[in-house]
Amino acid sequence: MRGGRFRGSPSAIMQSMNASIDFDRALWRQDINGSVEHSRMLARTGIISNEDAIAIREGLNTISDEIECGDFGFSRELEDIHMNIEARLAELIGDAAGRLHTARSRNDQVATDFRMWTRDRIDCAIDLLKDLIGALLDQAETGADLIMPGFTHLQTAQPVTWGHHMMAYVEMFHRDTGRFHDARVRMNESPLGAAALAGTPFPIDRDSTAAALGFDRPMANSMDAVSDRDFALEYLSATAICACHLSRLAEEIVLWTSSQFGFASLGDSYTTGSSIMPQKRNPDAAELVRAKTGRVNGALVALLTVVKGLPMTYSKDLQEDKERVFDAAETIELSLMAMTGMIDELRPRPDRLRNAAGTGHSTATDMADWLVRVAGMPFRDAHHVTGQLVLLAEGKGCELADLDVHEMKEVCEHVTEEMASVLDPERSAESRNSYGGTAPVRVREQVRRWKDALKCE
Ligand code: ARG
Repeated sequence: MRGGRFRGSPSAIMQSMNASIDFDRALWRQDINGSVEHSRMLARTGIISNEDAIAIREGLNTISDEIECGDFGFSRELEDIHMNIEARLAELIGDAAGRLHTARSRNDQVATDFRMWTRDRIDCAIDLLKDLIGALLDQAETGADLIMPGFTHLQTAQPVTWGHHMMAYVEMFHRDTGRFHDARVRMNESPLGAAALAGTPFPIDRDSTAAALGFDRPMANSMDAVSDRDFALEYLSATAICACHLSRLAEEIVLWTSSQFGFASLGDSYTTGSSIMPQKRNPDAAELVRAKTGRVNGALVALLTVVKGLPMTYSKDLQEDKERVFDAAETIELSLMAMTGMIDELRPRPDRLRNAAGTGHSTATDMADWLVRVAGMPFRDAHHVTGQLVLLAEGKGCELADLDVHEMKEVCEHVTEEMASVLDPERSAESRNSYGGTAPVRVREQVRRWKDALKCE
């Protein structure tokens, strides 16, 4: 590559800093596919001969087999995956190999490879999210009537259903899926043929290579094509938001499976024991999913930082775009699989959930609502009176629902026996049947809607 231009050779430090083969070998499949289609197009347009194109294709097939079987000798001296493959091609087929790089540069080559690689990872994330959503829907269906406390500020707020809680995550993960889809649509344009930065004088056919590589169209500006890394940034943004959602769910699993909460238990597959405390069953997988969010967020910030301030068009900085993206992909895929496994295995504990839902005066709002509906009080007054009753209950060390009707009447004359029934957590949850509410009928509707929708997706 240094061709006729250089007299000296690079220092060892320069070589080790410059070489990207240790990580960008991950792009080998995309690189070979890109080269196959490029050479086909070169032959179709008469830029190279058919014989050369056939030799190139056969050589690339051999290389593909070699890499697949682990027989390929990657070399740091050859810098990156593109040069490694090209050099091997020259060994295999001789002069014809030198024609492959006509009307192409490593700049459009790497941009094309990396886009195709990222596109595959997006498809993978979408599939894995579908599995996770399926597991959550199953939990929601079987737990549609399970009463548990709903929290705000992690303080008991109002009774909700387990199913409703699970469905909240279905919504979140479906939005994540949408973000991956959106990113895929925007990124699916081909940089190939942009060459170094300005296009090429050869009569190439960019539409045909774009179509053959599964792109919707060629990118319209060659300078943008070689320097844009938005596609990776969008992938990382979607990944970071998804990791953040996973982390929230992981945190809940950690809380719920603690002996203090005792809301649910995890099986043996995603927990570990302690080397000293025999009683322990630690939710390590959930903790790791929670922690791995840091790696993904770090990848996003790293790439934003690499790209910011780069003048047009390609700078070697852009070689630093890959490693963190590779890591983020591996991380999110593993995290999604672990979370699906945990959700499949998570067993809610109905008694613990129901008991907890009955504490913390969780139905105080129901009392205030009753005073509004039946006694015709303005909500603010009803809120005040209910607050006084909570204070009374706290003073006596009991729950609002345990107060005697007579005691309550002393605080508020409107209280009746009938009111006591609205303090029941089941009834409270059932009554919240507004669209999007926690009532089991609503949850079942949503589960059905999602199951139908996902069947057709
Ligand atoms: N390994 C390089 C990268 O990943 C390939 C592109 C090199 N282009 C160049 N003009 N030096 O970015």
